Amino acid sequence: MSSLELKNIQKYYGENHILKGFDLIVEDGEFISFLGSSGCGKTTCLRIVSGLENQTSGELIMGGEVISNPERSIFVRPEKRQIGMVFQSYAIWPHMNVFDNIAYPLKIQKVSKNEIQTRVMDTLGVVELDGLDQRMPNQLSGGQQQRVALARGLVARPKVLLLDEPLSNLDAKLRQKMRHDIRKIQQDLKITCLYVTHDQLEAFTMSDRIVLMNNGVIEQIGAPEQIKNNPETEYVREFLQ
Ligand SMILES: Nc1ncnc2c1ncn2[C@@H]1O[C@H](COP(=O)(O)OP(=O)(O)OP(=O)(O)O)[C@@H](O)[C@H]1O
Ligand SMILES: [Mg+2]
Repeated sequence: MSSLELKNIQKYYGENHILKGFDLIVEDGEFISFLGSSGCGKTTCLRIVSGLENQTSGELIMGGEVISNPERSIFVRPEKRQIGMVFQSYAIWPHMNVFDNIAYPLKIQKVSKNEIQTRVMDTLGVVELDGLDQRMPNQLSGGQQQRVALARGLVARPKVLLLDEPLSNLDAKLRQKMRHDIRKIQQDLKITCLYVTHDQLEAFTMSDRIVLMNNGVIEQIGAPEQIKNNPETEYVREFLQ
């Protein structure tokens, strides 16, 4: 079954037409990158999928269920969507230790204390932070902090994980390692991922498919080799130069 369907998603901010009919079917377990230059609408698209933002029109379907459609007044709230988020701007909370940072989404869902303990410890293992649960964020490296953010996105076992430029704070070497680690975790957990980046290398090395965006429009969707070998528009040809 498809994991997620975006059907003719349009978004206006005031007069500004930001997403101009966005269509996408994401398969279960797929890793999809949204690639495009600054301001093209990548974050807006993720925020709509997460429910932090509502589209002006169009329909969103997750696991066969309509989760938003303004014309039909359907809107499933973010916390009910089984979606995890790792956003660059939502850095981890400095006043909470690693355990509490990761436990937060479960506390909101009123998961029992024992279950929280088990799940946080399991997730620490997944992101290879075993033993660091009592550390404060300022006692962690940048890469470790990013892993805490990743663990927080994964801990509630979401069906879909959204990542918005999660590696942009890291130096080149660590970025390369985290690219590899995120992809491996995604494949081990078989989780569907939507990954926003404006870094071509990131998109081309991590993704099953890339959605190449330009100014609120999808220029091309395809596997990395497909896009590289057969750019379909002038914009894509130039973008890849
Ligand atoms: N809350 C808002 N109100 C008005 N305009 C907005 C709002 N959020 C985003 N925009 C505008 O929508 C457009 C798309 O923004 P978005 O954040 O989706 O871009 P992006 O592709 O993620 O860019 P970047 O790579 O710089 O993060 C931009 O022109 C932006 O100024
Ligand atoms: Mg953005």
